[in-house]
Amino acid sequence: MTDELLKVEHLKKYFPIRKSFFKRSSLYIKAVDDVSFIMRRGEILGVVGESGSGKTTLARLILRLIKPTSGTVYFDNIDIFKLSEKEMRRLRPKMQMIFQDVTASLNPRKNVRDILAQVYKTHTSLSKKEIDQNIEKLLISVGLTPPHIFMNRYPHELSGGQRQRVNIARAIALEPELIIADEPTSALDASLKRQIVDLFKHIYEERKGKLSYIIISHDISLIYSLTQKTLVMYLGRMVEYGDTKKIIHDPKHPYTMMLISAVPIPDPDIERNRKIFIGGEPMTLESAFTGCPFYNRCPFATEKCKKETPPLVRLDDGRYVACWLYS
Ligand SMILES: Nc1ncnc2c1ncn2[C@@H]1O[C@H](COP(=O)(O)OP(=O)(O)OP(=O)(O)O)[C@@H](O)[C@H]1O
Ligand SMILES: [Mg+2]
Repeated sequence: MTDELLKVEHLKKYFPIRKSFFKRSSLYIKAVDDVSFIMRRGEILGVVGESGSGKTTLARLILRLIKPTSGTVYFDNIDIFKLSEKEMRRLRPKMQMIFQDVTASLNPRKNVRDILAQVYKTHTSLSKKEIDQNIEKLLISVGLTPPHIFMNRYPHELSGGQRQRVNIARAIALEPELIIADEPTSALDASLKRQIVDLFKHIYEERKGKLSYIIISHDISLIYSLTQKTLVMYLGRMVEYGDTKKIIHDPKHPYTMMLISAVPIPDPDIERNRKIFIGGEPMTLESAFTGCPFYNRCPFATEKCKKETPPLVRLDDGRYVACWLYS
């Protein structure tokens, strides 16, 4: 075991744009475009960005649910794309995902007991009785009590918050080292959202030092309350990366400033320093485009931004920014 849980290096995923069902064109969507970062064991990383910025694609790459166009992911110092299917199956229990669509990720024809038992049947050789005991403990630890009532319920008999608790139970069942939660609260109202955030915190504290999260969200307040590091993505590229507090209190990239000015943060200091930004839509990315992907919405854009992609540079305070204002 090393201190470094995850190392992502120059990760890229380009999807070909089809002209028609049969015909591929030479154009690509750069869903993830040159993403690199290191995650320490026990760290909580937030990934933020608007819809289509590549957050889910990045998660799927990290878990090897899809293959990259190029780049590497090391998990526990192992290059996961070099593993055989069998070796990967052995690694799977250590990395879990809570999927974006809470409802679709639970089989409607199975009750909670069967949904959770499936995990143990696939990855352990526990007896039926041991599985039931584990499920009981799991349900208690995610706040679905008394457990015997919830065991026999079907997904449609649960509220949105309860369904998400079942998803969380399934993710923690095998005591993973990494959980990636994709928009874990986007389907929930404010009070339920707070409960789920508290549950994530509680599980994290219980397994302190042994569990890391990647929390994917476009919700800055969620990222603020839950994460230590933040990665801001824009059209597949990392535009800012570093300590969450620094990034949210003092965003450097114009896109991060825009994201933060659009969201209420429960912190009066931030409220006072708010900068107002105009909106606009992300451009349609063409493969041949070489400039900064944010230039058409950026109030500081110059001719250079239109022509050249800014490199990711390290600032004095340790964060990374990809913007010509700082290069
Ligand atoms: N299998 C695929 N084939 C083709 N294009 C894809 C595929 N998966 C994702 N994309 C495209 O890649 C880009 C990034 O998508 P992704 O789902 O990763 O974004 P996201 O940040 O998770 O967005 P959201 O906030 O809406 O969930 C989008 O333009 C999307 O249309
Ligand atoms: Mg997504």
